[in-house]
Amino acid sequence: MDRQNEKALVGEAAATQFVKDGMTIGLGTGSTAYYVIKKMGEMIKAGMTLKGVATSKATEKLAIECGIQLIDINEVEELDLAIDGADEIDANFYATKGGGGALLREKIIANAAKTFIVVADGSKKVQSLGKFPLPIEVVPFGYKQTERAIRKFGCKTEIREKDGEIFVTDNGNYIVDCSFSSIQNPTQLQQDLNNIVGVVENGLFIDMVDVLISIKEHKEISVEY
Ligand code: 5RP
Repeated sequence: MDRQNEKALVGEAAATQFVKDGMTIGLGTGSTAYYVIKKMGEMIKAGMTLKGVATSKATEKLAIECGIQLIDINEVEELDLAIDGADEIDANFYATKGGGGALLREKIIANAAKTFIVVADGSKKVQSLGKFPLPIEVVPFGYKQTERAIRKFGCKTEIREKDGEIFVTDNGNYIVDCSFSSIQNPTQLQQDLNNIVGVVENGLFIDMVDVLISIKEHKEISVEY
């Protein structure tokens, strides 16, 4: 089974097992969240009433295509669920996110959800975080100063580019991708990074994930709490 099939299986399992009629759901970004949203579209066609809050402009477009009624995050006090992918997740359910550049909205929406579910293909579970470069969203003004300050935490950095231009997030900011060989103390690091002037948010999701839906040995879906 290839990765795409794994993403489809965990995404559809999340929607089928956790999404219930009348819920308001935080809709993640990326190729695994895609399958959650597609499945929710099918559930709506079959008669369910669901509302969604999108974590990115790309997800907004997909949700509209799938017939999901979108609402503004400011219209609700909390969300019933948020379901999203991750770049890495360890045994403590500490995750890194932001490979798709949507980490800020993803974190705001995960934080607003009563239950935050991560859907992960077989490549995402790790012993320790850090192999996948950690994305950090920074304001464009003085971004090279901010990047230098981030490097003091022992990583190599790159300003994310797309099509030869600096990548700009949905919030008008830049992303610094940070290669740590391994992140020893993710809890401390996320606090330290957010204390740097110019940093908007980092991609470490600590004590946020309630449920992990992953796939083992290419076939067996596991739901962990
Ligand atoms: C986007 C994200 C994604 O959830 C993460 O990059 C995983 O993506 P995929 O499901 O495509 O592997 O954080 O900002």
